[in-house]
Amino acid sequence: MSPAPDRTTVAIVGGGPAGLLLSHLLRKRGVDSVVLESRPRERVESRQRAGILEHGTVDALREVGADARMDERGLPHDGFAFHAHGERIGVDMAALTGKAVMIWAQTEVVKDLIALRLEQGEPLLFEAEVLSVSEVDGAVGDGAGLVRYRHGGAEHELRADVVVGTDGFHGVARRAVPDEAVRTYERVYPFSWLGILADAPPSSDELVYARHDRGFALLSMRSPSVTRAYIQVPNGTDPSSWSDDAIWDELEARTALADGSFTLNRGTITDKSVTPMRSFVAEPMRHGRLFLAGDAAHIVPPTGAKGLNLAVADVRVLAEALATWHDTGAQELLDAYSDTALRRVWRGEHFSWTMTTMLHRDPDADPFDDRLALSHLRLIAQSESYRRSIAENYRGLELDL
Ligand code: PHB
Repeated sequence: MSPAPDRTTVAIVGGGPAGLLLSHLLRKRGVDSVVLESRPRERVESRQRAGILEHGTVDALREVGADARMDERGLPHDGFAFHAHGERIGVDMAALTGKAVMIWAQTEVVKDLIALRLEQGEPLLFEAEVLSVSEVDGAVGDGAGLVRYRHGGAEHELRADVVVGTDGFHGVARRAVPDEAVRTYERVYPFSWLGILADAPPSSDELVYARHDRGFALLSMRSPSVTRAYIQVPNGTDPSSWSDDAIWDELEARTALADGSFTLNRGTITDKSVTPMRSFVAEPMRHGRLFLAGDAAHIVPPTGAKGLNLAVADVRVLAEALATWHDTGAQELLDAYSDTALRRVWRGEHFSWTMTTMLHRDPDADPFDDRLALSHLRLIAQSESYRRSIAENYRGLELDL
């Protein structure tokens, strides 16, 4: 890799999927960028996150040439199922909407995007801790933003026409926006997910989202021999306080069907972790020469598997806007970026909130909330148009919302 330049067109703070994909989309359009990632490469490549790719996300990975392993090993999925208090409700996405999703873990997406960037010899620095983002007040094309970072024991400065913050919810980029210039919206849920990876073949061809009196459970997969599964647990749960047998017993109880037709495959658990659940949006997603994308601007609870897909949608819109400005000087698309992205973000927020509240048992809820959730699931079971609406949201809407 060539040494990192101290001047670039787009400084990308954060080398997760959003930042990496943005760098590739920009390169394809002839716009140079530098990606700074604070964590070591191994950490970025081992982070376990949701693994459902909407078809628009699949298209974006194809566009940048990060599709070979996805096509070989990803698992196309036509539908998923709800298990609601022992009853199965199938949602046949492909039949209802003509589109499917792909199960391909974020971890794998990130590995491919990193390998490609390094192969191209384009600047991507790991263990580059961004200390500050400044001088972003003011118009694009009229001055430069400044990113100060520590790398290899020394402090460096990077100047860029535009700075993009893709450094996640806890990142430094959003903090460069003055408090009075941003409005935030937030919901913290009174439960978390205990997630496992296990050497066990998936118990069903389709993902299973279960609501039960004991709480939510999700059966997903990573390959024909690896199960990914989650159960709702109280906030603050220590993953090591759950024995492997207790996790399997809980998954079994919550996903069981009343007619006995569902069997859970058990196996060796190789990883356990707890994820808190949060909804969060910061508006607008731009301040002067600083643009925010992905988790740096918005968070969803993982129930609808929207986090990665929203991040990819953001950077697709942003890449187009930046390339247009770079080629022609026109800034209309840059000016529209925040509003355009936020329309999709809020659709994702609503869908994720709906799935979350419908499928979890809120320990503080009264029986009224439980009745509403059950009625919601019955409606999905009975109404094809309602199932279609869920399926459209799940596989990703094409509408200009
Ligand atoms: C996953 O496979 O990790 C996964 C799948 C679907 C979700 C969330 C996570 O809604």
